[in-house]
Amino acid sequence: MTIRAQGLTKRYGDRTVVDDLTFTVEPGTITGFLGPNGAGKSTTMRMLLGLDTPTAGRATLGGRSYAAHPAPLTEAGALLEAKAVHPGRTAFHHLMALAHTHGIPRSRVEHVLALTGLTDIAGRRVKGFSLGMGQRLGIAAALIGDPATVILDEPVNGLDPEGVLWIRTLLKSLAREGRTVLISSHLMSETAQTADRLVVIGRGRLLADTTVADLVRTSGAAYVHVVTPEADRLRGLLPASCDLAADAPDTLHVRGLTAQDIGRIAAAHALPLHELTPRTASLEQAFMDLTQETVEYQATAPVTRTGVAA
Ligand SMILES: Nc1ncnc2c1ncn2[C@@H]1O[C@H](COP(=O)(O)OP(=O)(O)O)[C@@H](O)[C@H]1O
Ligand SMILES: [Mg+2]
Repeated sequence: MTIRAQGLTKRYGDRTVVDDLTFTVEPGTITGFLGPNGAGKSTTMRMLLGLDTPTAGRATLGGRSYAAHPAPLTEAGALLEAKAVHPGRTAFHHLMALAHTHGIPRSRVEHVLALTGLTDIAGRRVKGFSLGMGQRLGIAAALIGDPATVILDEPVNGLDPEGVLWIRTLLKSLAREGRTVLISSHLMSETAQTADRLVVIGRGRLLADTTVADLVRTSGAAYVHVVTPEADRLRGLLPASCDLAADAPDTLHVRGLTAQDIGRIAAAHALPLHELTPRTASLEQAFMDLTQETVEYQATAPVTRTGVAA
């Protein structure tokens, strides 16, 4: 089912925390919903799920608002940030209670327990759960109705590396089955490895609706890494318009010229090149460039835009 936000807006008092957001999330894909902390991701997800009323605009699943679906748990499963689970209940009873109230069979409870690796600890009380175990239980609850749409708010929070790998695999299989998968995160790297598409927001506004590859391509931070024992001579031969940086005496990082341009100039002057490598900006850099102006609380150390990791 397609998720659609149209002019979605949320104001708290005179603060606009979600500002005229329009985007679409298609079935069969994983869409990463990215933004710095406080960008409005959780608020948007609550509106998609009918848990918060938009000040303006509309959120629909398959053309209808979430509340208008006859059996919402089978239409959309969600994991939201602060999940209220009765601490004295076991994982099994928590899921059984959910199943009971929605006419879902016990076999489905057992299935999602196995899917999330909780079978062995299903009889333990939730209050003894680690953050990662709680997160797995939240994901089990989200999947209990076998939903066509899966909306997970920061699902990787609290998971160890094995858990991160597990959730990546799970999300990919959910998308492969034709489900619509929307996951939020404030971390670019983990999202880029999982998501097909990226919807990036900052201060409630849409900054990009793109693919991982396009984001890197358009970030404008690409450069050519050049290593030559004649770095000083080469530097003097390159046009003044190109941007030069160096991190060693024999190294140049050149922006504004292609590897071919540089190779041609070097060949014309018989300068030896030991390396000539086009490099794209890291995804983190692309994300930072995109969201820099919108970050609510800037770190005190300035971010250097030239310090691009390969
Ligand atoms: N119920 C609320 N009342 C007032 N402000 C809120 C409320 N919920 C969220 N906010 C504010 O809205 C902004 C966006 O919050 P949130 O959607 O949680 O961002 P994110 O999930 O991207 O970190 C934050 O500045 C937050 O303080
Ligand atoms: Mg949030």
